Amino acid sequence: MFASPERALRRRLDQARRDLRMVAGTLRGVRPPVTVPRRPKRPGRSALGTRSLRVDAVIQETRDAVTLRLSDVSGAPLRFHPGQFLSLDVVVGGRRHRRAYSLSGALGAPAQVTVKRVPGGVVSSHLVETAQAGDVLAAFGPAGRFGFAPDPRAERRLLLVAGGSGITPLVSLAESVLAAEPRSRVTLLYGNRRAEDVIFRERLGALATRYGARFRICHVLEAPAADLASTAGRLGRERMDERLRALGIEHDVEAYVCGPTDMMEAVRAALEGHGIDRIHEERFQRPEERRGAGAALPTEPVPVSFGEGDVRHTALVAPGDTLLEAGRKAGLALPFSCAMGGCGACRVRLRKGAVAMEEPNCLSADERSAGDVLACVARPTEACEVELP
Ligand code: FES
Repeated sequence: MFASPERALRRRLDQARRDLRMVAGTLRGVRPPVTVPRRPKRPGRSALGTRSLRVDAVIQETRDAVTLRLSDVSGAPLRFHPGQFLSLDVVVGGRRHRRAYSLSGALGAPAQVTVKRVPGGVVSSHLVETAQAGDVLAAFGPAGRFGFAPDPRAERRLLLVAGGSGITPLVSLAESVLAAEPRSRVTLLYGNRRAEDVIFRERLGALATRYGARFRICHVLEAPAADLASTAGRLGRERMDERLRALGIEHDVEAYVCGPTDMMEAVRAALEGHGIDRIHEERFQRPEERRGAGAALPTEPVPVSFGEGDVRHTALVAPGDTLLEAGRKAGLALPFSCAMGGCGACRVRLRKGAVAMEEPNCLSADERSAGDVLACVARPTEACEVELP
């Protein structure tokens, strides 16, 4: 493939056109900035190039949660906006697992992710128990559409609702907005079982002291503790209704929600019932909760034609490979960032054929009805024709 100079030239021109469109889109703010490695640096089990991040420090936050301070081993800056996440490729027991962790540091502070051990969680348990300074992790990103880059001219009213480790993107958002937007105000509702489960307890307390009326925090604890001011109960529909009224939350706030799925559904119902319609949610499911990952796939390679209009390249996709892996193995510079369905950077349009796509993912209803799929989590089940963006 791509043997003739004309084809190579045409491919470069195509790539330059795509890059220009992506840059223009990013400048208009219609797409998140994406990482576009041109070639995998080290051929390995995956066709996707990762960046190598060194663990500079491990901070024990609670009995079950640690923060990993990270830096790129190449010295490249780790740029992100509050609310974004990193996808980490972690090898446990000889098997490679991919997991997303929100960046929990504020803008301008060292990059970090915070990992909480979940029951039966292979990767979270491994990281909480064994991560140490000097470890090197393979990562994709930063990526994600949750959150935003603060704007000093903005005057926002933000309502952040977190459950358990859902605080990780929200603490980054709160701290960054309070520091960078002097006219913005933030209210945080944070639910946990017990006071000892509260991640960033001192950090949140310090924000309340520092920013006074601009930052309100309301802890909701199932088992209230004498040493932490809180509301008793579970952060479900009833408690949310009561807190929204008690705190005098206006219907024109912008809400950001992150936590367990059942909590998020109850919170959304309460917010909508309160007339709040600007609601942003961050959901990460454990692999065993994702649908489509184990779909019946062809046992033989299937042909997939990638291209823009008449300029097309056909690749044979090995059983189990995603469109992204297949395209990159074929030498196509397909953009991607998180490699796990959370950012939209790899969106392509399916013209013909069918794929099995892992759910949930970040595709909107409009994108789905237009025939878009996410190449990083879409596996062809028959011959396909894919239109590149
Ligand atoms: S690379 Fe992020 S959704 Fe595919």
